[in-house]
Amino acid sequence: MKPYKPPLDGRSAYDGMLLDFNERTKPPQNKVIRALEKFVRSQKLQVYPEYFDLEKKIADYAGVKADQIMITNGSDQGIDIIFRTFTEKGDKVIIPSPSFAMFYQCAQIVGNEIVSPLYKKDDLAFPLEEVLATIDERTKLVVVCNPNNPTGTAVSEADIEKIAKQAKGAIVYIDEAYFEFSKITAIPLINKYPNIIVTRTFSKAFGLASLRIGYVVAKAEYISEMLKIRGPYDVNMAAYYAACAALEDKKDMESYVKDVMESAKPLVEKFFAQNRIPYFISRSNFVLFRPNNPEKTMLLLEKNGALVRPQNKQTIENTLRVSIGTTKQMKKFIEIYKNDVLKNSKRRYAFLDRDGTLIFEPQDTYQVDSVKKLKILDGVIDGLQELKSRGYSLIMISNQDGLGTSSFPQENFRRPQEKMLKIFCDKGIVFDEVFVCPHLPNEPCNCRKPKTGLVEDFLRNANIDKTVSLVCGDRNSDQQFAENIGVSFVPMDTNGNFYKAIKSFLTKTI
Ligand SMILES: Cc1ncc(COP(=O)(O)O)c(C=O)c1O
Repeated sequence: MKPYKPPLDGRSAYDGMLLDFNERTKPPQNKVIRALEKFVRSQKLQVYPEYFDLEKKIADYAGVKADQIMITNGSDQGIDIIFRTFTEKGDKVIIPSPSFAMFYQCAQIVGNEIVSPLYKKDDLAFPLEEVLATIDERTKLVVVCNPNNPTGTAVSEADIEKIAKQAKGAIVYIDEAYFEFSKITAIPLINKYPNIIVTRTFSKAFGLASLRIGYVVAKAEYISEMLKIRGPYDVNMAAYYAACAALEDKKDMESYVKDVMESAKPLVEKFFAQNRIPYFISRSNFVLFRPNNPEKTMLLLEKNGALVRPQNKQTIENTLRVSIGTTKQMKKFIEIYKNDVLKNSKRRYAFLDRDGTLIFEPQDTYQVDSVKKLKILDGVIDGLQELKSRGYSLIMISNQDGLGTSSFPQENFRRPQEKMLKIFCDKGIVFDEVFVCPHLPNEPCNCRKPKTGLVEDFLRNANIDKTVSLVCGDRNSDQQFAENIGVSFVPMDTNGNFYKAIKSFLTKTI
């Protein structure tokens, strides 16, 4: 095993915004500071901890009884104790991936067999069906990180019930570190499904990450078992006083959460959408996004005042995770992004022919003029998704001979075209632009491929990275078009397999 070493590297001395660890981005309320000051001056630092009624205070906050709470040294300790109490070496545990590193770390400490169904590539939804299908009598623990770090996606209460029912012989462990942001909780389910255990933390919305305090919620008998593993003084008294003060007045936490979720996050999402930077919908105080060049973006953000966290795990390749802070801070983040990243970064484009490349081109009429004739070719969805996951923006460019004439009315083009775009859109694939030349081969126009008239304005503003941009098509005119705009050509057999063509190009060149 290797130690879990988050990329700290002197970040506490960084004087820009720390948007890389999903912390609260402003200090906790004054009451917490005053409680800590009082403790430091109390002449009690030399006395071992005693937690009085903290469990009761947390229980009231969480809506359970005091004997259903165990406080821990951060929720990290709760995770460790859960794995060590309820699993043994060789036991099967299900940890959907990608997720928070400590789950895998704790499972490895025990020596569990880890099974990791993958979050869905399109929208990073929880892989419910796979998890349900994977549960068997050897399964001792199922982890549901809700919302999940780093995807930001959440599982509904109803789906948690399905898992709890299916995994009767196992613990269903729900990590609710971000509960205050998502407001989704499985705690009310514990009465009905006693195999559910929940952890939460004071590290995030309450802002006490440095003090290390979290808690586990479970049925009382389980808490008694877990307390055999936790040390009697594992939570320190500074954390104790800070947590008590934080719970005494929740208004500060609530207004922070409101600012993050209802004002700051929508601003960042709007900015990403407007600038066609793909991002994933999140139920928490962080957003995963996929810029064209993640490494360069991260470095430029860092240099200019914001740290974000790179993510390169399977299904979330080439993404960055930004923690959402206050509205004021996120306005600053957007400014930095606009001025120091967007102005400096080139984008990679895939110019794609349509007929014979993305959809079946009939070899008799060469026209797809009805929805009936529309057939998406093999490998197109996978190929387009592959391009997207590599940061390509998609541009469709097609010659449609005689479009708008009586032999090929606009309407006959529009219907299959809209249907095709809808099929792509349902798979999360959106084209930035669609360019169509409607002229016949013998008409004098400057827009019919291989001529470049259709894209000239676009190319002027596109800030295109020609070293990796491409044209993919099945005709000589596509090849010549690629030469004319100065990018690589990816050849494709007419009505062939798009994924194969794209994949072989990407493996060779990038
Ligand atoms: C999903 C998840 N669980 C638990 C933790 C650990 O939190 P704590 O500071 O309470 O140990 C984190 C921290 O980033 C997290 O993202």
